[in-house]
Amino acid sequence: MMDKLYILCLLGLLMVTAYGVAGKMVYTDLDILKKLENFDVVLDDDADDNDAKLFDLVSFTRRSSGKNLVNVDTFGAAGDGVSDDTQAFTNAWSKACSTRKSVLLVPQGRRYLVNATKFNGPCEQKLIIQIDGTIVAPEEPSDWDPKLPRVWLEFSKLKGVVFQGKGVIDGSGSKWWAASCKKNKSNPCKSAPTALTIDSSSGVKVTGLTIQNSQQMNFIIARSDAVRVSKVMVSSPGDSPNTDGIHITGSTNVVLQDCKIGTGDDCVSIVNASSNIKMKNIYCGPGHGISIGSLGNNNSTGIVTNVVLDTAFLRETSNGLRIKTYQGGSGYVQGIRFTNVEMQDVSNPIIIDQFYCDNPTSCQNQTSAVKISQIMYRNITGTTKSEKAIKFACSDSVPCSHIVLDDVNLEGKDGQVEAYCNSAEGFGYGVIHPSADCLYSHDDKGMDQSHKSEEAETGHDEL
Ligand SMILES: *[C@@H]1O[C@H](CO)[C@@H](O)[C@H](O)[C@H]1NC(C)=O
Ligand SMILES: *[C@@H]1O[C@H](CO)[C@@H](O)[C@H](O)[C@H]1NC(C)=O
Ligand SMILES: *[C@@H]1O[C@H](CO)[C@@H](O)[C@H](O)[C@H]1NC(C)=O
Ligand SMILES: *[C@@H]1O[C@H](CO)[C@@H](O)[C@H](O)[C@H]1NC(C)=O
Ligand SMILES: *[C@@H]1O[C@H](CO)[C@@H](O)[C@H](O)[C@H]1NC(C)=O
Ligand SMILES: *[C@@H]1O[C@H](CO)[C@@H](O)[C@H](O)[C@H]1NC(C)=O
Ligand SMILES: *[C@@H]1O[C@H](CO)[C@@H](O)[C@H](O)[C@H]1NC(C)=O
Repeated sequence: MMDKLYILCLLGLLMVTAYGVAGKMVYTDLDILKKLENFDVVLDDDADDNDAKLFDLVSFTRRSSGKNLVNVDTFGAAGDGVSDDTQAFTNAWSKACSTRKSVLLVPQGRRYLVNATKFNGPCEQKLIIQIDGTIVAPEEPSDWDPKLPRVWLEFSKLKGVVFQGKGVIDGSGSKWWAASCKKNKSNPCKSAPTALTIDSSSGVKVTGLTIQNSQQMNFIIARSDAVRVSKVMVSSPGDSPNTDGIHITGSTNVVLQDCKIGTGDDCVSIVNASSNIKMKNIYCGPGHGISIGSLGNNNSTGIVTNVVLDTAFLRETSNGLRIKTYQGGSGYVQGIRFTNVEMQDVSNPIIIDQFYCDNPTSCQNQTSAVKISQIMYRNITGTTKSEKAIKFACSDSVPCSHIVLDDVNLEGKDGQVEAYCNSAEGFGYGVIHPSADCLYSHDDKGMDQSHKSEEAETGHDEL
């Protein structure tokens, strides 16, 4: 009931706000707004989940559960943190993957040293990977398998697999960080391994695990569909270079829920060919915030659509909600809703940066850009460290359109905050602080702007 009233109020306000623009546009705006408000990502919980929850080693008997336990210790793993357990893991994987209803167990209370390894499917049905102990990577970059420069633990071509347990995946990354060109300019810029990768898979669930101290990105979900990640903790130091928390690329129907991420780069980054992504209950900090992008590097095409973040707390991050694209790209970012986000001492809480560049050869302005449209920020509150609490730096030749602000209240730590726009158009209602007049003034033709921004500030209270 309240919702309905609220929407009615919004409609009323919109009619007022959009008045003076072409009559047709009102309807387009309403359609877009409805779409932004309503889209959601829902994954069916399949029956396997219940099976997985019930797994408990203490009470495990083959007869009662019908499961086949494949314990890495049985395959010769030492679990002392020193002996090389790679072969034991690959042998256990072969067995578990080829056996129906198996549970690959990494027992608790032990540390397993494992080299860069690709665990490939497809596997027999109903595989559970139960990680209760700690898996650690060898520390020395110079000993890394040169054939797998970007991989530590990679799982691919899985279908309907559950990863779960209280265990830890630890990339032992400190020597990699020290060798990074971001840390020491005289070092060459080389890629480094990702702790956990799930690639070319579908129907995967990851729950309970901790991923930490990755060599580079902590957890990548690539080229996959229907992936649910819940109660996962990611932890790397705030100054560890390029250690994104969860990186989503080429993937659809992904849900991240109840995750706590502290890292040295983006807590979550969502890049090309990803759509229907939902993040719910996310804690981020330290880190670079929650990012869509970067996209469009080296004149490439980047497409990201339908992303919703609902309920997040960001603390002392260097960005809050960010969309970043390079000059010269193509493609689009469309249909994004950031809602119910609280920030504490965040720099750049709301930012679209279409001049992003961490690659000096491509920092010149160009006419081509990734098109950004239909981006909603609703109920975003908290404190900012930047004067420009709201920043929409959009491409001169490809403006951002349909940016919607609804109840945004960002306070400066000490002093004034302001909004900045370049080539950005949109509308706002509810409380908006700092007031984002620059967003509405872009495309009005002869409309009284001071009147309009006043409406935006007072919002539905007035209606
Ligand atoms: C793991 O890596 C080390 C160092 O490169 C190497 O000596 C060892 O043979 C590898 N273990 C396996 C099982 O491949
Ligand atoms: C940076 O790296 C170079 C070469 O790899 C090394 O000689 C130098 O000591 C490093 N500097 C610092 C500050 O670690
Ligand atoms: C982005 O994804 C599309 C497929 O949706 C693909 O054609 C394109 O090559 C990708 N771009 C990059 C930079 O990988
Ligand atoms: C940029 O793209 C071109 C053409 O696709 C490719 O040949 C080149 O290697 C790319 N450069 C970088 C730095 O990725
Ligand atoms: C991208 O395209 C522009 C315009 O065609 C060209 O000037 C520029 O060199 C290209 N950049 C790269 C990195 O290929
Ligand atoms: C706004 O978001 C916060 C969480 O950040 C939440 O506690 C609060 O209930 C939300 N308010 C509304 C009106 O939904
Ligand atoms: C690119 O364009 C933006 C916006 O017009 C401008 O602020 C910036 O200075 C330009 N950068 C370069 C390198 O020309």
